[in-house]
Amino acid sequence: PRHLLTLDGMPRDALNALLVRAQAFAEGHYDRRALDGIAVCTLFFEPSTRTRMSFTLAAQRLGADVLNFDASTSSTSKGETALDTMKNLEAMGVRGFVIRHKVDGAVAELSGHANPGTSLVNAGDGRTAHPTQGLLDMLTLRQAKGHDFSRLKVVIVGDVKHSRVARSDLQALRALGTGEIRVCGPASLLPDDGTLQGCVVSHDLDAALEGVDAAMMLRLQRERMEEGLVASLDEYHRDFGLSAARLKRAAADAVVMHPGPMNRGVEITDDVADGPQSLILTQVSNGVAVRMAVLEALLRG
Ligand code: CP
Repeated sequence: PRHLLTLDGMPRDALNALLVRAQAFAEGHYDRRALDGIAVCTLFFEPSTRTRMSFTLAAQRLGADVLNFDASTSSTSKGETALDTMKNLEAMGVRGFVIRHKVDGAVAELSGHANPGTSLVNAGDGRTAHPTQGLLDMLTLRQAKGHDFSRLKVVIVGDVKHSRVARSDLQALRALGTGEIRVCGPASLLPDDGTLQGCVVSHDLDAALEGVDAAMMLRLQRERMEEGLVASLDEYHRDFGLSAARLKRAAADAVVMHPGPMNRGVEITDDVADGPQSLILTQVSNGVAVRMAVLEALLRG
């Protein structure tokens, strides 16, 4: 494929092939000239720390020329559209675009206007998809729990409604044949649009954690939230925050994940986030390797 817009519909073999390649990159096996002479631009219309920096590092490690576009200091502030911005960068010779946008479907829409030799990666659009986050989460789970997901019980906790990460994780977990996928959160933050098809849905975190192999916590996305969806941060923490005491309900070797940025003390306590079962910084490390695999697959030709 030319673009990576979503994990929806990606076959298990294709997903696994990217994970195997990413694992090799994570172990340091790569050619620093693989993308020699290819220009890649990170085109972010929403803030980011992990995704933008790790795509930048990934492209640099493969020898690409990397441009970092910052919407706030660009001609976007004079009213230039995302499409005109992309077309101008294409005219400079950029072949790979890593794009984040707050509008659902914005990256897919831009891909329809790209030149035949241009590849786009969705680095997060609205609530829809964050495919490289889904891939790095699967790489992290696979390293911790092995390649066979069929016996795994995984719970995704929190603000699924506003979460492109949850949607991409759910698509990837299904594609990899995960044994049981649970989803837990307040009714007001769980989507009713088919996203949770096949999941065991619960509003009781203690019950949902019982015996799980992995707890994937989500950020409460207050910037995307209408007033009143959550009573208060204290109540949210009381009912849906992952604490060390709660984590005891999971399997003894359960792992804890969070895509970042964390609201510490809201969806997760410090002792869990920084504790021995946390893989949160491993996820970040894996982000570089996964993004190398994606850029190589799309751009190496
Ligand atoms: N997980 C994630 O996408 O983080 P950033 O928003 O910092 O890129």
